[in-house]
Amino acid sequence: MNEHDSERIAGLLEADGMEHIDDIESADVVVMNTCCIRENADNRFYGHLGELKALKATNPDLQIAIAGCLAQKDRDAIVDRAGHVDVVFGTHNLHRAVDLLRDARTSGQPIVEILEEQEHDEFPSALPTRRESSFAAWVTIQIGCDNNCAFCIVPQVRGKEISRRMGDIVAEVADLAKDGVTEITLLGQNVNSYGRDLGAGQYSPKFADLLRAVNDVAGIRRIRYTSPHPKDFRIATIDAMSQCANVCEHLHLPLQSGSDRILARMHRGYTADRYLERLRAARTAMPELAVTTDIIVGFPGETEADFQQTLAVAEAGDFDGAYTFVYSSRPGTEAAAWVDEMLPASVTGERMERLVSIIRASSARRHAAYVGSTQELLIEGPSKRDDRRLTGRTRSHKVVHLDGGDGLRAGSYVQATITKAFSHYLEAQIDEVISVPAATRVRIPLTVV
Ligand code: 5AD
Ligand code: SF4
Repeated sequence: MNEHDSERIAGLLEADGMEHIDDIESADVVVMNTCCIRENADNRFYGHLGELKALKATNPDLQIAIAGCLAQKDRDAIVDRAGHVDVVFGTHNLHRAVDLLRDARTSGQPIVEILEEQEHDEFPSALPTRRESSFAAWVTIQIGCDNNCAFCIVPQVRGKEISRRMGDIVAEVADLAKDGVTEITLLGQNVNSYGRDLGAGQYSPKFADLLRAVNDVAGIRRIRYTSPHPKDFRIATIDAMSQCANVCEHLHLPLQSGSDRILARMHRGYTADRYLERLRAARTAMPELAVTTDIIVGFPGETEADFQQTLAVAEAGDFDGAYTFVYSSRPGTEAAAWVDEMLPASVTGERMERLVSIIRASSARRHAAYVGSTQELLIEGPSKRDDRRLTGRTRSHKVVHLDGGDGLRAGSYVQATITKAFSHYLEAQIDEVISVPAATRVRIPLTVV
């Protein structure tokens, strides 16, 4: 969501006549889009803010804008700690980026504008966007979150859940397809509750309906989505996924913990058994399905017995991969008050090692099963490790490195045989080129500060 917000801010600035440059030293404007979901993003932000101070000392005309949910949370601290910042805005008013920069330039005064709720009728996805990729795009289907997971700051900074009208989503996807996009990722904090707020007593669309509608858009070959919530992940969604040819065989289903006691304290609304039962249903309907998850280690009060249950579910889940996080206390969340139950770093570190070794083993096992199989790959461009090789992705979202394929443009589809498996990626040999995109204008990647 944060990356997509960055694309929108960049799109707005470009629409106003600014130009992206790679070299931060020659920039007239630097926008840092921030995220506060976990503490280490917070810490990194303040380091970068210090670096920008040095830059402003050498170029006093430089304008610095801080955007995003960390800006929203720390608005006062940012201005107090960083007199070199010109503009601070949050997630609900990023459409104001250009105006705020202009006003600050005219007045010579810093401007802080943070809104608590979305102020305008226009859904933010309708803003101009500077897409990072010519062939893949994010599509926001919902903003905000109505859940109250005890560890999570998102509801505070993203506001209440609002679904976007299905017709608008389908129209945007059709426009993207006309622009050469073949892969879309539907974005929401809790996509399975999509549509709950639409329809006011009459028919309200469900996420499964949306998948079916988007599946019918000509030109789109791959549909992904993130994130579903296990408590709302229903059979209708599994059916739609398995019946829609363009919906990819990948499910990212955040587990968070395998202990029912911890899940209840987190207010997640499901038990470990129910989570595993949904997973089984999805895998039965889609035998090719790859499943990834998010797990938090060291939630306040997590005992060794609780953690053992997480290990057991991680084993039973047979995951293709997992993002594992040490719990970090977020101000204003329910769990932030449970200071007495925080676990020491020595315990969380040791638990994390045990969890990661289980995940690594299941990833390696599942990846090994790909060797010898034929897969459709979407070429993403040269490999980041070795630019003589190409990197592509399977429908199941596996990273694949390929030799050869000289001259194949990003956005091409190929048929390939998987030759080797590693825990984080696969290697393959191209058998056949399926399609090559028409030449697109060159896009320069955004500098990540
Ligand atoms: N501490 C650790 N991990 C967190 N996540 C969200 N909030 C926290 C927190 N306070 C993780 C969850 C979520 C993912 C996006 O980030 O696992 O699914
Ligand atoms: Fe946070 Fe829970 Fe909402 Fe996800 S569902 S954004 S974890 S409150």
